[in-house]
Amino acid sequence: MVMDSHRLFLSFLTAALAVGFVSVVFVLRWVLYFKEGLAWDGGLAEFNWHPVLVVTGFVFVQGIAIVVYRLPWTWKCSKMMMKFIHAGLNTLAFIMAAISLVAVFDFHNAQNIPNMYSLHSWVGLAAVILYGLQLLLGVCVYLLPITPVYLRVAIMPLHVYSGLFIFTIVIATSLMGITEKLIFGLKDPKYKDSPPEAIFVNVLGVLITVYGALILWLATRPSWQRPRELQHQTQHGCGDETAGSKVGTALSLLSNTNSDNPESGFDARKRNCKLDESGQRSTM
Ligand code: HEM
Ligand code: HEM
Repeated sequence: MVMDSHRLFLSFLTAALAVGFVSVVFVLRWVLYFKEGLAWDGGLAEFNWHPVLVVTGFVFVQGIAIVVYRLPWTWKCSKMMMKFIHAGLNTLAFIMAAISLVAVFDFHNAQNIPNMYSLHSWVGLAAVILYGLQLLLGVCVYLLPITPVYLRVAIMPLHVYSGLFIFTIVIATSLMGITEKLIFGLKDPKYKDSPPEAIFVNVLGVLITVYGALILWLATRPSWQRPRELQHQTQHGCGDETAGSKVGTALSLLSNTNSDNPESGFDARKRNCKLDESGQRSTM
């Protein structure tokens, strides 16, 4: 049963990484093969950095940042190290999203196209601002040693909820952007005539949606959460000689919370709520 849960996690993770990677390949092929390529010249090739950086950074890298605590082979690493990896990947995603905005604003200004007129741009800018705030708050609350434990505990449910909410908004904004670009960009034949580019980019949208669904599933199963017991044992260092037994302990926790047991989902949730309330999840 332990191995089943472990294997199921690995299957979801592999599927998510594969779909995410293929999405990045698709967006590159879109701009390099169907569109004008990549350049920083105020023209359409500069605009193309916008989808490329957004799909690579804001979608793919952010998704990995969200699930990084759940990778079983990292449970032997210190929580502090995992916090730096989580924060580092989120910072990388933020920088890529910010550069993608510079590209599209610069393109609009160079071409005298009005800024911020579409629903896509409103929701997209809001997502980037909220993401920046989430990053800042995350660093202040979970990395600065002076932050009191009660504050870390109180903010964790909000941190997790807003993280998942922003990720969902990012997926939705990407789909809006893709649709807009296809409608604007395809003239003869038009989008409604389903030329090869339209079909190809529709598939990109489906891939991004599936990636979002897989990441959200991976990040919301209570039984795949980084185990609390190990957080106590692994304050310092990574890969010590007792790591094997720690992962063993962790995997046995998985078996206790396996959803094959009709009552286990509820039990697991209750247990995890207790962890949150007692602050074990947030403060280690
Ligand atoms: C424009 C954000 C994804 C296509 C914009 C603008 C913002 C933005 C703020 C307004 C720029 C301005 O007014 O000068 C985002 C965010 C995304 C995202 C945060 C990811 C979550 C995408 C994707 C595409 C795309 C994947 C696909 C090509 C467009 C297009 C415009 C645009 C065509 C110009 C038209 C408009 O202003 O709505 N985007 N975007 N976007 N974006 Fe995105
Ligand atoms: C957990 C999102 C930045 C610290 C989480 C979770 C999400 C998330 C969705 C739940 C993960 C899970 O249940 O396995 C985000 C986003 C961020 C961000 C979108 C940036 C915009 C940060 C930063 C820190 C941080 C900068 C500082 C170190 C934590 C901690 C946890 C967590 C300590 C609890 C992990 C656990 O033990 O389960 N974050 N986060 N986050 N995050 Fe962030």
